[in-house]
Amino acid sequence: MRVAVIGSTGYLGEQICNVLSYFPEFEVKVLVANVNGEKLIQQARNFRNPSIYLVNPEANFRAAGDLKESEIEVLKNRDEVKEILLGNSVDGIFFALSGVDWIDLFYDLLITNKTIWMATKEIIVAGSELWKGERDLSQHKNLIALDSEHNALHQLIQGQNKEHIAKIYLTASGGAFYEWQGDLNEITPEMALSHPNWKMGTKITIDSANLINKGLEVIEANCLFRFPYSQIDVLIQRESVIHALIERKDGFIMALLSKPDMRSVILHTLKNVRTSPREEYKLDFTRLHQLHFDYPVPDRFQGFYLAVKVGCLGGGYPAFFCGADEACVQAFLNHRIRFNHIPILLEKTLETTITKPKSVSDVIDIYNQGYKTAKNLIQQRRSLKC
Ligand SMILES: NC(=O)c1ccc[n+]([C@@H]2O[C@H](COP(=O)([O-])OP(=O)(O)OC[C@H]3O[C@@H](n4cnc5c(N)ncnc54)[C@H](OP(=O)(O)O)[C@@H]3O)[C@@H](O)[C@H]2O)c1
Repeated sequence: MRVAVIGSTGYLGEQICNVLSYFPEFEVKVLVANVNGEKLIQQARNFRNPSIYLVNPEANFRAAGDLKESEIEVLKNRDEVKEILLGNSVDGIFFALSGVDWIDLFYDLLITNKTIWMATKEIIVAGSELWKGERDLSQHKNLIALDSEHNALHQLIQGQNKEHIAKIYLTASGGAFYEWQGDLNEITPEMALSHPNWKMGTKITIDSANLINKGLEVIEANCLFRFPYSQIDVLIQRESVIHALIERKDGFIMALLSKPDMRSVILHTLKNVRTSPREEYKLDFTRLHQLHFDYPVPDRFQGFYLAVKVGCLGGGYPAFFCGADEACVQAFLNHRIRFNHIPILLEKTLETTITKPKSVSDVIDIYNQGYKTAKNLIQQRRSLKC
């Protein structure tokens, strides 16, 4: 199978490349990143000279210069990338970038027969209004969710009569501050970037620390499985060993357990790969003495409840919220706002009138509007008393 990876240089992208490197039946044809040319070129050299592309024009230009004498082709522009990924030389695409870029490609891919491995929740959430009719994600046979919780849900729901399911549950570790007794004001980016169970990029790690990530995942679950919000719930599962549960109407609950390691999720999603699970991915029951569950506490995790509310509102709200959240996370990482300002600012941004997107370009516009609104509020935040 001939595949491409968008966002190959990130935490998840690297794990995808790592798993793919074990299987010669997967030929990596294209690798795409934003700016990290050095890592991208190194990755290309580890495979059989796939074409590469960097979204940042200077980085792409530099890479083209560095690879003048090489067999690795540097693609010139986005249109060329899209043409190859939508054309006959690629059978499947991994989306492992952060943000909403390439949503246009995702939109176009949905009406092809290509396999789409989807980890980029921002694209699903921001575009939620568009996933209807022939682009209904729940009907798409070749769309594979790479988020561990959604992948687990997919495995649990498969083979069940949907009518017999009362509720689906996504689990959350609770992030770095679940047991934090101090003032949320004192949390620094460095503290928030140390996730207890998963190693991930900066944006998703901050979103996990305040559980906004889990709110986005609830919206993602609604888009992927078409369960109404009233049937989607979230449980804190401190050890990140149970990734999802389904509760049947007859009262039985089924859970999916595995080690918190994205490589086992990636491996599971590779079709036609005949392999026994690697020893290192197996769960060791002797180390698993207790499992802890809880519900997210509303006043501690305001951002989570806000994200779910945004999902229920639908229309342009999810795209707007994603853009505003991006701006808030950047400002927090740059020490311009404090950790607990994020949900306060996000709530304030939602006072804007937001239109319903009808196209991919509307989604991008609304996302940018959310980003700008949050940025403006961050600049005048003293008047907001935060
Ligand atoms: N990490 C996980 O375990 C995990 C699990 C489930 C879902 N996810 C989701 O997967 C996505 C990536 O997460 P991550 O933790 O891997 O983040 P990350 O470490 O920050 O990596 C982001 C990747 O996206 C690339 N990128 C950024 N903007 C891009 C653009 N416009 N076009 C193409 N590539 C672009 C980056 O390239 P540069 O390196 O050049 O900047 C990098 O390769 C997020 O949506 C996250 O929610 C992650």
